[in-house]
Amino acid sequence: MTSAKRLAAEKAIEYVEAGSIIGVGTGSTVAHFIEALGRMRDRIKGAVSSSEQSSELLRSAGIEIHDLNATGPLALYVDGADECDPHKRLIKGGGGALTREKIIAEASARFVCIVDPSKQVDVLGRFPLPVEVIPMARSLVAREILAMTRAQPVWRQDANERGVVTDNGNLILDIHGMSITDPVALESALNQIPGVVAVGLFARRPADIVIVGGEPPQIL
Ligand code: A5P
Repeated sequence: MTSAKRLAAEKAIEYVEAGSIIGVGTGSTVAHFIEALGRMRDRIKGAVSSSEQSSELLRSAGIEIHDLNATGPLALYVDGADECDPHKRLIKGGGGALTREKIIAEASARFVCIVDPSKQVDVLGRFPLPVEVIPMARSLVAREILAMTRAQPVWRQDANERGVVTDNGNLILDIHGMSITDPVALESALNQIPGVVAVGLFARRPADIVIVGGEPPQIL
């Protein structure tokens, strides 16, 4: 049986315009999208990538990678999510690529988000909210988050208890135990803390279209 992630990713190909440069997110759902994009690589100009992981997949699929500084605004960004609410606001960053994902989403006219049904929630926050921080500010930011939200920030570490380092050389705090009733306000408040690079809440700039994988896929 074809997975829901793959079904969502393959549907997203319908939004790709010939001759364009596509913004490409990160994660297992996007991996299916890159595979499908590779099959039409001769009809597109290339991609802007949100992570080293996606760049590797794009290169293996024969897709040219472009620098966002040289492309200017993009028509389309395709990416997955960890959670999606009915207003198409998202939690992202489970894979640690939230900052570059946020940059590309902001630079794109249309953000198509591809998810399987397990990602749909009424209220964001069951998935721990990732926040990318400058290393020297890790403890400061954690204290301020605790004071502000009363929820628990946890330093993301690997299996060897070493801090996970992002593609930008920073660290990640995952905020556990929140029920995010006002995502726009929380995104703005967290962004104000010195040392925060990006917050994995996509509420100020939600997705424009959400494709939920299934047979047939559901378009929100
Ligand atoms: C990567 O940092 C994330 O924002 C991903 O988009 C998110 O974790 C979804 O990943 P999957 O497609 O692997 O579920």
